[in-house]
Amino acid sequence: LAEDGSLLWLRYDPVTAAQAAGRHIIVAKPMGAIVQVAKTELDTYWRGPTVDLVLDKKMKHLNEGYQLKWKKDHLQVVAYKDRGLLYGAYHLLRLQQEGRDLQGIDLTEIPDYDVRILNHWDNLDGTVERGYAGRSLWKWDELPTAISPRYAAYARSNASIGINAVVLNNVNASPDILRPDYLLKVKALADVFRLYGIQVYLSINFSSPKVIGGVHDSDPLNPEVRAWWKAKVREIYKSIPDFGGFLVKANSEGQPGPQDYNRTHADGANMLADALAPYNGLVMWRAFVYNPTNEDRAKQAYLEFVPLDGAFRDNVIIQIKNGPIDFQPREPFTPLFGAMKETTQMIEFQITQEYLGFSNHLVYLAPLFKETLDSDTYASGKGSTIAKLTDGTLRTAKRTAIAAVANIGEDSNWTGHNFAQANWYAFGRLAWNHSLTSDQIASEWIRSTFTPHEEFVQPIKQMMLESREAAVNYMMPLGLHHIFAFDHHYGPEPWGDRQGGRPDWMPWYYHNANSAGLGFDRSATGSNAVSQYFAPLDRIYGDLETCPENFLLWFHHVPWSYQMKNGRSMWAELCYKYDEGVQQVRAFQQIWDKLESHVDSQRFADVQSKLKIQAKDAVWWKDACLLYFQTFSEQPIPYAIERPI
Ligand code: GCU
Repeated sequence: LAEDGSLLWLRYDPVTAAQAAGRHIIVAKPMGAIVQVAKTELDTYWRGPTVDLVLDKKMKHLNEGYQLKWKKDHLQVVAYKDRGLLYGAYHLLRLQQEGRDLQGIDLTEIPDYDVRILNHWDNLDGTVERGYAGRSLWKWDELPTAISPRYAAYARSNASIGINAVVLNNVNASPDILRPDYLLKVKALADVFRLYGIQVYLSINFSSPKVIGGVHDSDPLNPEVRAWWKAKVREIYKSIPDFGGFLVKANSEGQPGPQDYNRTHADGANMLADALAPYNGLVMWRAFVYNPTNEDRAKQAYLEFVPLDGAFRDNVIIQIKNGPIDFQPREPFTPLFGAMKETTQMIEFQITQEYLGFSNHLVYLAPLFKETLDSDTYASGKGSTIAKLTDGTLRTAKRTAIAAVANIGEDSNWTGHNFAQANWYAFGRLAWNHSLTSDQIASEWIRSTFTPHEEFVQPIKQMMLESREAAVNYMMPLGLHHIFAFDHHYGPEPWGDRQGGRPDWMPWYYHNANSAGLGFDRSATGSNAVSQYFAPLDRIYGDLETCPENFLLWFHHVPWSYQMKNGRSMWAELCYKYDEGVQQVRAFQQIWDKLESHVDSQRFADVQSKLKIQAKDAVWWKDACLLYFQTFSEQPIPYAIERPI
């Protein structure tokens, strides 16, 4: 049978009658729909001993988590909520798939975040913004009448890794999503997802009252506007009682927002929060705001939001991208994290590879996610990591959340590249437990998705763990950023210039190459973005000598001849880094080719051809960037590296 990757990491073999003989999946009656799913999964796939699924209303501290316990001759899964039993069932199936020994097992799992949410940037016309895996999964034109079997398959995959919420539509939201006919379609999806413990959220357009409601404007302080939102929210909850809430991109990249009426982000967010509060709904209000002013784009979110600290309702969460520019291959963390002490904050990652070679490049993102989550902000002294600032440890929050932009589409393998499935998986696992390592997650994923054979797992894991750094090397080493081709963001275009275009969308805004050097001066002599970081980071980043070299050109304009720690000039180091990236991808090709016998022929060929594209693209990046920057450095490319022809 051809293997198209459609099974993701859920490659469970159904049990035979003989395997199931004598083992039972026991559930106390009455059983809710979610528990029914848990039972069916185990009935169908569980080859171990009898499992007792127990709901224990005294175990509130478990939240959505569970305990797995070995009891003499059977296993017990104990949970406080229905979802906990479902997650416990998937945990058992994962252990079975990985070939783990269950004897004596005794563990407790409690998720680190309350809301573990995917953001789909899916448009109502079926396209996906920055989507590289085909069209949208949601068939808006067929809903609510036709229900694709992929809706349940999608929800099941999410549940298996603990994801419990989704935003269905693009942050650049069409007001139409709130029309009654669309809400019926949303309800149909919510009805499927609910069985897997998944709550639906929607991105809203701030101008909806005016555009679809016939209200004179959308001013958040206008009583008519407020009444419109209240009524709309009531309408939604009537058909979707467990609706999650709204995600909002306002006054950002041309989207409407409260500032159109001289109101603040807090005015806008609070209006929606007040409408949602009676139903326990949330507002996720994005901090991705910047304008073409004289102020460094990297500073703008902080400047806009810090003065609003404490002004937001407790059911508003400020959703902040991991880096201050835009999902670049490597960015320092956004300094807004921790800078608001009275406001709940959440992180937004991007799983879809807008700036990482689309679905053509193999880039395992767990190391990127971890790098940000583990970054110490020093906001409340040493150890104030972003994980601890957002998971409720250091700041109290009504509810905590973590989001990522999905990479999922209609492609039969869901994500375009077979290895991009690992990034969906990694986000879910880290949203559940942010202290898992990239290594552990890769190991789980490879074993479940391909094979548990060590001869395969070890080299593939090494390749995955190295792949993000390889991409940084061949695209934007040493802190370079946003030198992508205009708009589509696939290849290099550091020379890019568009007559009359926004300066903050031009690559030279970011790299500032000239005869004196390369990089963005964000130290005290430049934009002083370093001052937005807590001590001692402001000093560490602000001083060329102490700035980590992987952020050098992010924070400094560095002379070409500047001596790096290894003794090379900055120019030579740049050349070596680009070359290293190319060599790394070539090595990935060899690793993959050698392991052909472990993989089905279709997935082998699919990954092999994608690696070919990636290797070609890596050379393209290296040659384009080095030849362009060389026009400023006026220095030779070292003979030791593979030189452009
Ligand atoms: C990036 C991306 C846009 C997206 C935006 C956002 O700029 O290129 O397509 O809309 O981020 O996150 O709002």
